[in-house]
Amino acid sequence: MTTATPDWSAIRGDFPLLTREVNGKPLVYFDSANTSQKPAAVIEAVDDFYRQHNANVSRAVHTLGSEATEAYEGARRKLAAFLNVRADELVLCSGTTFAINLVAYSWALPRLKAGDSILLTRMEHHANMVPWQLIAERTGARIKVAELRPDGSLDLDALHAAMTPDVKLLGVAHVSNVLGTVNPVREICKEARKRGIVTVVDGSQAVPHMAVDITSIGCDFYAFTGHKLCGPTGTGVLWGRREHLEAMPPFLGGGEMIKEVRFDGTVFNTPPHRFEAGTPNIAGFIGLGAAVDYLQGIGMDAIHAREAQLLARATAALSDIPGMRIFGTAPGKAAIISFAIEGAHAHDLATLLDIEGFAVRSGQHCAHPLLQFFGVSATCRASFAFYNTEDEIERFATALRKVRTLLA
Ligand SMILES: Cc1ncc(COP(=O)(O)O)c(C=O)c1O
Repeated sequence: MTTATPDWSAIRGDFPLLTREVNGKPLVYFDSANTSQKPAAVIEAVDDFYRQHNANVSRAVHTLGSEATEAYEGARRKLAAFLNVRADELVLCSGTTFAINLVAYSWALPRLKAGDSILLTRMEHHANMVPWQLIAERTGARIKVAELRPDGSLDLDALHAAMTPDVKLLGVAHVSNVLGTVNPVREICKEARKRGIVTVVDGSQAVPHMAVDITSIGCDFYAFTGHKLCGPTGTGVLWGRREHLEAMPPFLGGGEMIKEVRFDGTVFNTPPHRFEAGTPNIAGFIGLGAAVDYLQGIGMDAIHAREAQLLARATAALSDIPGMRIFGTAPGKAAIISFAIEGAHAHDLATLLDIEGFAVRSGQHCAHPLLQFFGVSATCRASFAFYNTEDEIERFATALRKVRTLLA
């Protein structure tokens, strides 16, 4: 049940790991863009599956097999309702990386040819970049890049101008994992659609932090990963328009994805099962279904508002630290702060922060071309979730001032 003002302190208590210490200090987990922590409800759902219902799906007629199948397909239905799409358009897979590779090899590889272009934005994660490079190499298509403004927002005029007739596919992040920029994917997909360009939206950093209605975005494919959504690792989702999924050949072959197998020809299953060869991550998706229930219980709008508050607090607390440079200041950005401190290497900062109990990510965040744009070799990234607190942010700012004096 969604309440008007969630009790954030009680909600934090739902995450067992957040009570632990690291290096003798209370853990402060600011790496949720990397992977989120898991509430007890998710851990218990996975535990209950293995203790009470463990069996393979869609194969056995016995009771456990039926229970496992019902729970697994129930998770697909929950995800579909959460995202406002049809359940038979949701391919359950291992994560965003797998989902985008599936589109690359099954949709793009048979269709693209020399003279075609794939349009990507400068802020894509490598998962929405490298598969397209591999397809470009094999088909002779070329990659075009849509550039950014200095604040880390997309230059929309340039993006629309780059949608020339040679462009057959556009890959765009809904939210940047480095900058937090929220791209206007609805408007972008509308422009692409007018020009017959197929759109692949990477929603990895969006679905955990805001209400996402895939139908209203109007894209062709939407991918995200379950482990950033309070779900288990090894879970992910590809949504595709039914007409695309039906026209796509299988990506991997094996059990579950067939209707009939003969040595002189195999009849493939209908989507989404056509793309789910082999035994899936049954327990993982049951956990992800529990994560969706949990998040809906809080309310995605409430989560979004809470994280905006935390971001505002953190931006204010960090901005006046001497030598601080924040990458990504677009209005309405998500709760991610990538930063550098003059004279201090990002890995050194992250290491010293870890000694103080703070988990932040340092490096290139699987977005090398984006860091090249900003002319830096690494940044630190503090990413927040609704289970973080204002107090953690204040302690973080204090710790950062302290470690800065040791390094800069
Ligand atoms: C924007 C974005 N896309 C894709 C990915 C890849 O997700 P996964 O490694 O779960 O496939 C990530 C993960 O960091 C991401 O942030």
